[in-house]
Amino acid sequence: MQEKDLGADLRSVLITKQEIDARLAELAAKIDAGYEGKDLLLVGVLKGAVMVMADLARALATPVTMDWMAISSYGAGTQSSGVVRILKDLDTDIKDKHVLIVEDIIDSGLTLSWLLSNLGSREPASLEIMTLLRKPEAAKVDIDVKWVGFDIPSEFVVGYGLDYGEKYRNLPFIGTLAPHVYGG
Ligand code: IMP
Ligand code: MG
Repeated sequence: MQEKDLGADLRSVLITKQEIDARLAELAAKIDAGYEGKDLLLVGVLKGAVMVMADLARALATPVTMDWMAISSYGAGTQSSGVVRILKDLDTDIKDKHVLIVEDIIDSGLTLSWLLSNLGSREPASLEIMTLLRKPEAAKVDIDVKWVGFDIPSEFVVGYGLDYGEKYRNLPFIGTLAPHVYGG
């Protein structure tokens, strides 16, 4: 799906596919350096992190294993509820493993602080976070995010895995939608 396929639903392209690729290559080099000689388990958070996981994993030189969790903090709308549920747990035991959480976006940080304490209690050898996007709200919560792709304004964005009502995940870029899409 491309810009033209969105027609009037697209307001703006915030981050292009080229910018995402370039930034992921930079971060991959840093992550490679950070895990030299170690086995790395990437934990992706479904469904939003599918694209960033796929592209980051391929940009890494480090051999990795991948596992997935599905958690839910939002309904179909654009506001965080603060309620986190596990919809799908990891398949593997992460005890004594080097775990890197791969996230699409940190907004309020509620989802991530919950995930950190949940995974932390399973006694991994290390637990770090990489997120493609971070909104200003996230700075208010005390979460140490080791790798951030882009700091973006406090706006609802879609594309590259991120959805509005389960749509727009298959855009290759990050964009914002016209107000009429949100039921205006
Ligand atoms: P948080 O708990 O407020 O940090 O929200 C985390 C989750 O909310 C993300 O993993 C996304 O699934 C979703 N989310 C937050 N902001 C956006 C956005 O701008 N577009 C699409 N999904 C979002
Ligand atoms: Mg997410």
